[in-house]
Amino acid sequence: MAEHPAYPVGLRLTGRRVVVLGGGQVAQRRLPALIAAGADIFLVSPSATPSVEAMADAGEITWQRRRYEEGDLENAWYALIATGDTEANTRASAEAERRRVWCVRSDDADEATAWTPATGHSEGVTVAVLTTDAKGRDPRHTAAVRDAVVEGLRDGTLVAPHHRTRTPGVALVGGGPGDPDLITVRGRRLLAEADVVIADRLGPRDLLAELPPHVEVIDAAKIPYGRFMAQEAINSALIEHAKQGKSVVRLKGGDPYVFGRGMEELQALAEVGIPCTVVPGISSSISVPSAAGIPVTHRGVAHEFTVVSGHVAPDDERSLVDWPSLARLTGTLVILMGVDKIGKIAETLVAHGKPADTPVALVQEGTTAAQRRVDATLATVAERVRAEDVKPPAVIVIGEVVKVGPTA
Ligand SMILES: C[S@@+](CC[C@H](N)C(=O)[O-])C[C@H]1O[C@@H](n2cnc3c(N)ncnc32)[C@H](O)[C@@H]1O
Repeated sequence: MAEHPAYPVGLRLTGRRVVVLGGGQVAQRRLPALIAAGADIFLVSPSATPSVEAMADAGEITWQRRRYEEGDLENAWYALIATGDTEANTRASAEAERRRVWCVRSDDADEATAWTPATGHSEGVTVAVLTTDAKGRDPRHTAAVRDAVVEGLRDGTLVAPHHRTRTPGVALVGGGPGDPDLITVRGRRLLAEADVVIADRLGPRDLLAELPPHVEVIDAAKIPYGRFMAQEAINSALIEHAKQGKSVVRLKGGDPYVFGRGMEELQALAEVGIPCTVVPGISSSISVPSAAGIPVTHRGVAHEFTVVSGHVAPDDERSLVDWPSLARLTGTLVILMGVDKIGKIAETLVAHGKPADTPVALVQEGTTAAQRRVDATLATVAERVRAEDVKPPAVIVIGEVVKVGPTA
C-alpha cells in the first residue's frame, strides 16, 4: 500500500459520524479540527485528558467511557484509532477495513488507510502537507513545510496569485508600537497587498522599506509642534486614492482607535461611501511599558489601569480629563502624549492627594532600538525629564507597578 503516494482529499464531515478511539494526547490534538469540520464525533475511551473531557462536557463530542468493542465503527465515515493498546488498535483497524471506513492509526502509519496531513489555514485557504510514503514520514518536516507556507501567505512574502477580490477601499491598520514584529498578521498581509500606504511617524516604519518600488508611500507625519499634515489632507488623500481603485493602507501607530483619530478617518470615508476595514493594533499604552519591564497590572498591586492623554495641561479649558478623580485612583495611570505637560500633570495629581513619592517611569521610543527608560517620582519627574532630555514619543507610567519588575 505504501509504495504509491497517498491520494490527497478534503473530507466534508458535517453531520457525519466520526469514531475516535482513545482519549489521550492524539485525540486532544485532532479533535478540534474534527469539531470545526462539524463532524458527529463518537469517542470511545475509558479515560480522557482534561481538555478532551471538557469537549464532552461542552457537548462537542459524545463520549462512551469504556474500551473499544467490535461494532463501534458501524455507520462511521471516518475513524481515528489512537488507544494505547496496540492489540485493540489492530482489531479496530481490521473492523475499519471490513466496513470500508477510512482510518488513521496513531501507532502504525503502515497499517492505516488514511494519514493526517500537517494543516494550517490562511485567508480561506487550507494548506495540507503530506509526505509521499509511510517510511519517509517525518512529522517535523511536514510541519515545517506547512509553517513556511502558511507564514508566507499570511505575511505576504509568499504571494499566491488569486482571483479573490482584494480588500476593497481603505484598510486602517494598527501597526503596533514600532517594532516591525509587533504588527498583526492581518495588518502585515494588507500592507503586502497595498498600492498606496499613508504612514504615520509612529509605528513600524521599518516595514515601509520592504515595500516593492511600485507602492506609493505617503508620509502623514504629524510631529508635535513640527511639520503637520492636516487631518483633512490625510482624509482627502485616502479618498482620492481609494476612488482610483487602489488598495490603500492607512498605517497608524499602535491601535487606530487609541488616540489615533481612526474613527474620524472611517467617518470621512463612510461619508463618500468608501468601505473601510479596521485592523486593531497593539497599543503603545500597554506594550511600551511591557517592553520596559513594567506590567500595567500586578496581583496585589494594581487592579486597574487608566490610559489618559496628556496633550493638554490639566488647567487647560480644552482638557476633558478629570485629574482630581485620577489622583484618587489606586491603580496605574498610563499617560500618552504627556512629556511636555508632565510637570503640570504631576503637580495636579499631588495637589489632589496622590503621594509625591509615587513612582513614575517614562519610556521613550519603546520597542525600538532607541528605547530608553527614565525613572522618577511625582515629585521629581519634571526635573528628571529636563535633566535626561526625555523627548516624545514616550509613555509615562505612574504607580507602584513601576517598581515590581526585576529591571526596576
Ligand atoms: C497620537 S498617540 C497614538 C497612540 C497609538 N494609537 C497607540 O495606540 O499606541 C501618540 C503617543 O503614543 C505614545 N507612543 C506611541 N508609540 C510609542 C513608542 N514606540 N514609544 C513610546 N511612546 C509611544 C506616545 O505617548 C505618543 O506621544
